[in-house]
Amino acid sequence: MVLKTRLTEMLGIQHPIIQGGMQYVGYAEMASAVSNAGGLGVLTGLTQPSPEDLRAEIRRCREMTSKPFGVNLTILPALIPADYDGYVDVVAEERVALLEVAGASPKKYMKQLHAAGVKVLHKSATLRHALKAQEAGVDLIEIVGYEASIAGGQPGDEVGLWVVLPRAVPLLSVPVIASGASATGRQLAAALSMGVPAATCVCATLSPLAVVGGVCLLALIIVGAHLLGAVWGLPTRVASRLGSRCEPAIAVETPQLMFEEQARV
Ligand SMILES: Cc1cc2nc3c(=O)[nH]c(=O)nc-3n(C[C@H](O)[C@H](O)[C@H](O)COP(=O)(O)O)c2cc1C
Repeated sequence: MVLKTRLTEMLGIQHPIIQGGMQYVGYAEMASAVSNAGGLGVLTGLTQPSPEDLRAEIRRCREMTSKPFGVNLTILPALIPADYDGYVDVVAEERVALLEVAGASPKKYMKQLHAAGVKVLHKSATLRHALKAQEAGVDLIEIVGYEASIAGGQPGDEVGLWVVLPRAVPLLSVPVIASGASATGRQLAAALSMGVPAATCVCATLSPLAVVGGVCLLALIIVGAHLLGAVWGLPTRVASRLGSRCEPAIAVETPQLMFEEQARV
């Protein structure tokens, strides 16, 4: 069955499914397999140690598929001081179909990417991030619910995907993608019924994560998980351990401590 949506038309792909960007998983093998199956495969930019390594990976992926694929760039300068401008230069020079930007606004790259014909998708953890990204001129917004991302980090941001989606669709004029807790055709059908033209998936059986993820989940259920870094506006969900459990106290006692120093804990 062929499902034509604004996303399949925009990117020239067969199925309205995008592979989620995944650090240390989004190599050419993964991205090309998804693209060859008719979805949009995504290479993870930062999985490559340098922009030139990303260029080589893009070219390797092109040898494995003639279909469009994208690149994910997660911009977290405080945690990962990478050459973000260099990665974006490579994506533009290689004229990749789509850049998925997470973690920060893609505003400063919009002109460069559009001039190269690259579509820009922003991964937004809240409606306020989505509106800001739309104002910056992105082509697509991917709404990631609280179950998959805690990047909002403010009180009141703890809202799941299926609650945010019906609010996002009438509010945003660009196509909205559903991301998080979506692993089967049933969630895709639910997204389509809300006027959402695609969903991202990370847990397909194709992924080595199907097994690794299951084991990690089990471990998390045993040790528990909680949020870290929210006081610095850089929230992350981590497995509980002694250091991470100390953070709230450290933040209160030494508020002048910078995130970079605290990150070592
Ligand atoms: C192992 C793994 C690595 C991930 N790495 C990234 C990443 O580097 N950048 C990013 O934007 N999202 C990353 N994600 C998030 C996914 O792209 C996606 O948004 C999220 O997993 C969707 O939620 P779900 O797991 O409930 O389907 C990662 C997810 C997993 C499971």
